[in-house]
Amino acid sequence: MNFISDNTAGASPRVMSALAAANEGPAAGYGADDWSRRVEERFGALFEREVAAFLVTTGTAANALALASLVRPWGAVLTHRESHVVEDECGAPEFFSDGAKLIELPGTGAKLTAATVTEALDHRQPGSFHNVQPQALSITQATACGTVYTPAEVRALRDASQARGLAFHMDGARFANAVASLGCSPAEITWKAGIDVLSFGGTKNGAWAAEAVIFFDKAMAEEMTWRRKRAGQTLSKGRFLGAQFEGLLAQDHWLDLARHANAQARRLSEAVAAGDKARLAWPVEANEVFIILPPALHATLQAAGVRYHPWSTRSLAPENALQPGEILARFVMSFATDPAEVTRLIALIG
Ligand SMILES: Cc1ncc(COP(=O)(O)O)c(C=O)c1O
Repeated sequence: MNFISDNTAGASPRVMSALAAANEGPAAGYGADDWSRRVEERFGALFEREVAAFLVTTGTAANALALASLVRPWGAVLTHRESHVVEDECGAPEFFSDGAKLIELPGTGAKLTAATVTEALDHRQPGSFHNVQPQALSITQATACGTVYTPAEVRALRDASQARGLAFHMDGARFANAVASLGCSPAEITWKAGIDVLSFGGTKNGAWAAEAVIFFDKAMAEEMTWRRKRAGQTLSKGRFLGAQFEGLLAQDHWLDLARHANAQARRLSEAVAAGDKARLAWPVEANEVFIILPPALHATLQAAGVRYHPWSTRSLAPENALQPGEILARFVMSFATDPAEVTRLIALIG
């Protein structure tokens, strides 16, 4: 029963078939192949407008290069203090932006509010050479806590930041889970709500190693060709990146995979909510379930071989604070999660 992460799963068989099919015959190098070209068109159809799509191999590269495109070295990115760009990218956004600063903001369930962003911007002096200049806002969808921003919430964040000239980035490592959860169109939760650049996650969704940086305004993508190459992310056999997305996007496979993961998370969360052994840290809106475990239940799960991550309590609402001995644990469902394993977990925890 391994619920450590959604990267413990391999790749979806359809992605592997697409990779095998792309293995036949010669193809142009460095992203000039038919697969990469077709994928950009497919992203255009998916988002209902022309986009510039740059394929890379990791979410860290996607985020760091996206943000580097949006801010200057003396610029700053406002983001949640538990976001992946702050906590888990070893300084890559700062490195690739030649030193731009990440300004960490609080928020329950790893979500930012318009009020928090406004307050952070009011606190800073536009134009002062003493201060870094906020030039981008970055949110995570679904968030590090498995919560999801609605289109109205994204629009409110856009309103709070756009008037001050900030560009708007979305880290969509779990974008598929968010779209499957919201039931809205990919366009509605991105550019129609004010997002300029999206890191579209493929890997957690069922790819082997593929992420896409999607620019909704092509003018913002002008430097990206060079940025990606400089970062060592322009694959000479780029067809294999394009092929993975072809496998994911065909017949909405990406959404079916995400729906499966979300459904397993929902089953677990409903069982926890209905029982009296443990409690949920915040609403379960995608494929991650955060559970506050009393010590005895934690010991029972460990003894039964259930694997999960302890998690930071910084985004807990004060009224949900841990009691002595309790731990906050993260259980992640993927496209490959076996429903029978969730049933076994529910028998222990529900
Ligand atoms: C929110 C978020 N963004 C981005 C990533 C991608 O990171 P990686 O560089 O490991 O592909 C992850 C993976 O854990 C993530 O959870």
